[in-house]
Amino acid sequence: MHILAIETSCDETALALLEATGALSAPRFKILGNVISSQIEVHRPWGGVVPNLAKREHLKNLPIVFEEIIGGPASHSWGPGLLALDAIAVTVGPGLEPALWTGVNFAKELYKNLKKKNKKSKLVGVNHLEGHLYSFLLAQKTETPNSKFLIPNSRLFPAIALIVSGGHTILLKMDSLTKWKKLGETRDDAVGEAFDKVAKMLDLPYPGGPEIQRLAKQGNPHAIEFPRPMIHDKSYDFSYSGLKTSVLYYLRDHKEARPLAGSRVSQELGADVAASFQEAALEVLVTKTVRATKEYKSKSIFLSGGVAANVSLREKLEIESKKLKISFIAPPMDFNTDNGVMIGVAGYISYLRKKNRRITAQANLSL
Ligand code: KG4
Ligand code: ZN
Repeated sequence: MHILAIETSCDETALALLEATGALSAPRFKILGNVISSQIEVHRPWGGVVPNLAKREHLKNLPIVFEEIIGGPASHSWGPGLLALDAIAVTVGPGLEPALWTGVNFAKELYKNLKKKNKKSKLVGVNHLEGHLYSFLLAQKTETPNSKFLIPNSRLFPAIALIVSGGHTILLKMDSLTKWKKLGETRDDAVGEAFDKVAKMLDLPYPGGPEIQRLAKQGNPHAIEFPRPMIHDKSYDFSYSGLKTSVLYYLRDHKEARPLAGSRVSQELGADVAASFQEAALEVLVTKTVRATKEYKSKSIFLSGGVAANVSLREKLEIESKKLKISFIAPPMDFNTDNGVMIGVAGYISYLRKKNRRITAQANLSL
């Protein structure tokens, strides 16, 4: 079936066109179109995402991105535009409420027209977190319709899934694609949020994750011993506000560490702060994920969310998975931060499960 997916939960207006086939035991996806209009430059001067600015930008960008996807070259390979769709999938939450409404209303409007022509078509509400979670499915080869699933289900589950984004840090045990249990989550800041806040302290632009990663490459990850909050705690919960505060205090006491202060020494110290912070933040994630993997004898680790773009995190989990002789699966680099493709993937799974979510903005929707 053909799915148009719409994502507007934060600061990306992202649409995708997918061809989805297969049952829940082996869903497969072919990406026919994928357009992301990023608002980073609009929010950057404010150091973070401003909800009403996000709404304004989504309203402006949605028709443009839609035209690009439906009217553009992407559509020519599969058929005559909107009316050939079988489903529209739209993020209903969690996210910024004003931003979510823009996507939801846009999807409803499109669906009105689609429904007139194709009575069997569906409007599917998607949980953004399921979008991240299921994005590991994009790691499989999709070139040919009959290409095999990456790894048979029997060798995939039980799995431990780590979702790490700007708003969430969640560890799950999955018994199948549709059956999971939340093991733990952050009690305060999300890990991506900590990256963004520490970057701000170092005078680096928003979003901070890629900036910290870049600066960290030049620093010594063991130069400063920042705390590893809750690393020895029995629970699978996380906490990132204490680590963020430690960096704040360190920078208050070592003003020369701020990279923009100018001198070579300060650049080096700034890099050491970035590298040491990153090391501390990632060590907690990796330690808890590995502990859960051992406890639940899981056969694979799935990593997703914007922070999954962090190369060091991917490498560490890859190394640990090799040691444990299990699979490590993370989405290809383009599908870690918010995108429409993952919403199409999760939309297809919801469609197969006949899950009817309310088509309204649900800012605090949980997994
Ligand atoms: O999933 P996402 O695009 O949006 C949310 O659902 O929150 O995640 C965005 C988060 C931001 O906090 C950003 O700084 C972080 O992902 N991020 C990274 C990297 N790339 C993006 N964090 C660490 N290292 C990266 N390379
Ligand atoms: Zn996200």
